[in-house]
Amino acid sequence: MKSIDEIRAEIESFKIENAEALEQFRLLFLSKKSELQSMFGEIKNIAPEDRKRFGQMLNELKESAQRRFEESRISMDDVADAMLTIADMTRPSAPLPVGSMHPISIMMNQVRRIFEDIGFNTETGPDIEDDWHVFTALNFPEEHPARDMQDTFFVELHPDVLLRTHTSSIQVRTMEHQKPPIRVICPGRVFRNEAITSRAHCIFHQMEGLYVDENVSFADMKQTLLYFAQRMFGPEVKIRLRPSYFPFTEPSAEMDISCNICGGAGCNLCKHTGWVEILGCGMVDPNVLENCGIDSKKYTGFAFGLGIERMTMLKYRTNDIRLYFENDVRFLRQFKAATR
Ligand code: DAH
Repeated sequence: MKSIDEIRAEIESFKIENAEALEQFRLLFLSKKSELQSMFGEIKNIAPEDRKRFGQMLNELKESAQRRFEESRISMDDVADAMLTIADMTRPSAPLPVGSMHPISIMMNQVRRIFEDIGFNTETGPDIEDDWHVFTALNFPEEHPARDMQDTFFVELHPDVLLRTHTSSIQVRTMEHQKPPIRVICPGRVFRNEAITSRAHCIFHQMEGLYVDENVSFADMKQTLLYFAQRMFGPEVKIRLRPSYFPFTEPSAEMDISCNICGGAGCNLCKHTGWVEILGCGMVDPNVLENCGIDSKKYTGFAFGLGIERMTMLKYRTNDIRLYFENDVRFLRQFKAATR
């Protein structure tokens, strides 16, 4: 009979390179009929004082054989898996998760494209502005009550540094640097000191439009905005202009579109009026043109500003503005199919 040391040496030097060798190893060292197992039957023939030590050594040997067997089996399974993957070159790869555009970006691009098609260029400006570009140049003199409509966030030590409340500031920047004809749209993020609710947020996005040239009229504005509304919401959409007030336009108007949910019959969205407001607009006040160095005797213009979140909520029929800022992928994923 072999000694324990001999069997240990055999276990250690046994090469397990494939499934047959693994089975061979099992038969030799782990099966009921293996030499190692039969040595357990020899315990009774050992001198009583040596029995305990002999038993212990046999157990250790059996455990180490068991361990080698398991380790070899696991690594062989890995190899088998890898072989399978390599073997099937036609197997589809694991799916790569692809993100999608944010609904606000989708809407901004849609609005931009519609205006670009009729010759409007895109202009941008800084989120962090000064009083002149957000208020004073736009005919909101200091202490004028119209400023109350647009409270914002100021830097305490530098009251002239503030977050813009509207993209109309980009109108001013554009007119300061370009001479008519000017035809621009200005997308951007804006800020207001407002409580956050399902309908209002302290951050949102606007798209400003401005057209300045000789003989630009209110009729040009109306037709441009009708063209926009029909491309955005469908050819059957109607618009209406209601008189309104903005310091930087005279006359000023608010534009409604016929409700795209009830088609004008009356529903919750349009509060049973058949109309929903989508933007503010008007003829650029001559004071604003002069503030930006443009001759108001020679040139006239129209301007408008629309809220991107509002447009998105109308177009995709969502009812809570906060969803656009929470970045919950369960919401965002639903816009994957929307056109860019
Ligand atoms: N700036 C306005 C606002 O934030 C929107 C607006 C109204 C922009 C009329 C315009 C305009 O250019 O002509 O409420």
